[in-house]
Amino acid sequence: MKAIDLRSDTVTEPTLEMRRAMAEAEVGDDGYRDDPTVNRLEEAAAALTGKEAALFVPSGTMGNLISVLTHCQRGEEIVLGDQAHIYYYEVGGASALGSLVMRQVPNDLDGTMDLDQLDQAIRPAALAVAPTRLVCLENTHNRCSGAVLPPAYVQSVSEIAQRHGVSLHLDGARVFNAATYLGLPVSDVVAPFDTVLFCLSKGLSCPVGSLLCGSLDFISRARRIRRMVGGGMRQAGILAAAGLVAFETTAHRLAEDHANARLLADGLANIPGVIVDPTRIQTNIVIFELADGNVQGFLETLAERGVKAGSPGGTMIRMVTHLGIGAEDIDTALGVIEVAVKIRTGVN
Ligand SMILES: Cc1ncc(COP(=O)(O)O)c(C=O)c1O
Repeated sequence: MKAIDLRSDTVTEPTLEMRRAMAEAEVGDDGYRDDPTVNRLEEAAAALTGKEAALFVPSGTMGNLISVLTHCQRGEEIVLGDQAHIYYYEVGGASALGSLVMRQVPNDLDGTMDLDQLDQAIRPAALAVAPTRLVCLENTHNRCSGAVLPPAYVQSVSEIAQRHGVSLHLDGARVFNAATYLGLPVSDVVAPFDTVLFCLSKGLSCPVGSLLCGSLDFISRARRIRRMVGGGMRQAGILAAAGLVAFETTAHRLAEDHANARLLADGLANIPGVIVDPTRIQTNIVIFELADGNVQGFLETLAERGVKAGSPGGTMIRMVTHLGIGAEDIDTALGVIEVAVKIRTGVN
């Protein structure tokens, strides 16, 4: 029996339609800008985000890195949430490779940061100060259970950034999930940002790839940085072809994943020994805790019974819904989770 893999939406595999488009893709050397499929994908991404231009990059991590390296110079500062993917999960690349200071403001459970604290964290240039050049937000917020940032909040952050004369970047790895939840076009969700990164390889189910979008000037500078960090690709149209299919297909089905995540969270709330607040679940990421906190043993028991999940640390357990998960899988998973909780906690 195939495992029910809830570790991440990155476990999704390309659809048949994507595989066909990949096999048939018209390609060329993108180093010369000769790959028509990459060019089409970049134009489509720019149109979707309402930005002037876009750059195809191998991963979300590289896209965020290229963005911060393009926005900032050595010794400058980025202000971001203490739960931000850029800070938490990108191997400190902004500091290690860009000599940038990452100044963190605490994230609330809903992925936001207190606006006064954010305002005060932004520092102008002075003799002893690493000047802030960039503020980064994340939408949806991975470590905050896939929370969607309210548009009015984003607008307030944008006004603060503008008042201080600093740029605003969105780590929008899952921005299509945010747009689906809000019922808005992606271009509206990202309008307040100077630059946005989004991933094809998560809920959109492509095998590889992300897009960094911004002004023409920004993207032409980012193109050189992509080359510097080794992200230039050649006949990348093979990969870009899947992205073009995603814009027409998988990008429009994410509400299903959100409904399944809510089903999962509601079911979890009925299992004694599980701590979860289903009302927090807006998109496809469900984070919960066990009353006894025995996370590793619990995950092993689940895996033995065919359900894969992960832990973002501490007592937290994370499950993510995606294209490969149907409502019947959620039912099966809930049955397995109930048994595993009983085994691990002795709750009856
Ligand atoms: C919010 C967020 N940003 C960036 C990334 C990095 O994407 P990649 O795995 O393609 O490097 C991820 C990956 O999970 C993510 O969740």
